[in-house]
Amino acid sequence: MAENAAFLEFQNVTMEFPGVKALSDVSFGIEKNEIHALMGANGAGKSTLIKILARIYMQTSGDIFINGESISKATAQNIRDYGIDFIFQELELVPNFTVAQNIMIGNEPRKGGLVDWKAMKSEAQKALDDFMPGVIDASVPVNQLSVAKQQIVSIVRAIHRNPKILVLDEPTSRLSTTETEALFAAIRKLKEKQDLTIIYISHRLEELFQICDRVTILRDGKYTGTWTLADISKEDVVYHMVGQVKKNEGHALLDEKIANQQPALEVEHLKVEGVIEDISFKVRPGEILALAGAVGAKKTETFEAIMGIIPNAEGTIRKDGQQIKLKGAADAKKKGICLVPEDRRRDGVVVDFTVRENTTYAFLRNFVSKLGLIRKQYEKVKVKELNERLLVKTPSTETYVKNLSGGNIQKVVVAKWLTGDSDVYFFDEPTVGIDVKGKSEIYDIIRELAAQGKAVVVASSEMDEVISISDNIVVLYNGKVVGNLVSSEARHEEIVYLTMGGSSHNE
Ligand SMILES: Nc1ncnc2c1ncn2[C@@H]1O[C@H](COP(=O)(O)OP(=O)(O)OP(=O)(O)O)[C@@H](O)[C@H]1O
Ligand SMILES: [Mg+2]
Repeated sequence: MAENAAFLEFQNVTMEFPGVKALSDVSFGIEKNEIHALMGANGAGKSTLIKILARIYMQTSGDIFINGESISKATAQNIRDYGIDFIFQELELVPNFTVAQNIMIGNEPRKGGLVDWKAMKSEAQKALDDFMPGVIDASVPVNQLSVAKQQIVSIVRAIHRNPKILVLDEPTSRLSTTETEALFAAIRKLKEKQDLTIIYISHRLEELFQICDRVTILRDGKYTGTWTLADISKEDVVYHMVGQVKKNEGHALLDEKIANQQPALEVEHLKVEGVIEDISFKVRPGEILALAGAVGAKKTETFEAIMGIIPNAEGTIRKDGQQIKLKGAADAKKKGICLVPEDRRRDGVVVDFTVRENTTYAFLRNFVSKLGLIRKQYEKVKVKELNERLLVKTPSTETYVKNLSGGNIQKVVVAKWLTGDSDVYFFDEPTVGIDVKGKSEIYDIIRELAAQGKAVVVASSEMDEVISISDNIVVLYNGKVVGNLVSSEARHEEIVYLTMGGSSHNE
């Protein structure tokens, strides 16, 4: 390889999956000690490039060099010996292991040949507390943690291994502002203390400019260029990623007519022992209500308590004025309430089903003829329509969901619920991992649902999203409502302040 080659060098990397060219002839270099962003729309090939570097996929052609050495002989098992570590888009924790076991996996402290459990726990706890004091207990199994906390565990694990190169594939998509800041502080500290090169993938533009030195942009599997961030504007980054994007119009003012209607859903003094203290809100047909809150505010739990997924919730719930008590997701669906969930891998999709199957199985009855047969042609057309609408990047409706990129999987989850006919839609962090263009498409769809007279509740920790999509905002903190705002009058800083536990002047 060339004399003046970079520290980490991608050389003519091409990757072909059956029917999909995920990467074509990608070449660029990453310098030692820089934070190098990798950007691109959903399906551009970012995760594929990272998985080739991790030896999970073997490239069709081309090579990658670390410090001049080809990694062609490395395997997924020994790639970490090259001083590189990864945080993948899909979390890779062992669900029934404790946090400590997960952090120390492969590095367990030993005493007389046996695992020293006590040392393991205290070392892991220290690593966690260095990152964010007092937030995660090292002795609990990771499957008892929220997705955000699991993300933190995987970050702490990678940092704890002291890599020379750290690859982060959308580490903040599940994190709140405070947690994101903790991650950035940790990254800056590491960078000062030791030589550390970082590859950073994110769809959040602000982060890019906050933390990264340079950016490489991929588009449809092709290299479009590398820029120093000081020399490129946000608009140009977006342009190189996706071409022109439509600007979000912002929320519509809630119509007088709608404002006077009977609420589609009323929640009064919802309470779950030890989880939710006191939550009340109402949402009318045609209204978009945001449940704003940091991670840990209990947004997901609120949806789950209303739907009866978390049992034994106290309080009153009324649908169209009638008091109801739901017995779980299926019962909620029957009564016209549906949840588009946050954790797409766990309860959003069946990865071994095709895009078509995943889109239609929840409301299959809508695709069945009078004779009880599935109207195959109609089903296909409908799914294709939705895919086009949501810009799902997939070779066909018959592709297995496990072969889609992260953001495209999230779009399939959203599409699934759009085939139904619910009256109340709960969206839990609907745009996690979705690129700018896809985001504005999903906002349009949410607005369209409201325009059709559906009542929509969107839980989000992204304050720009909260403000631009909703008519009204309910702010949650630690399982309690801490603020009620009208979106058109709400200021960004004010909401952030409330979500961080600041108290409202109105109360
Ligand atoms: N195992 C696979 N088999 C077939 N196709 C795949 C596989 N993995 C990825 N692809 C396809 O390769 C392309 C690039 O996907 P990749 O996951 O690299 O995108 P990405 O840039 O990470 O997108 P996102 O922002 O949505 O995470 C997509 O069209 C995807 O469907
Ligand atoms: Mg990806």
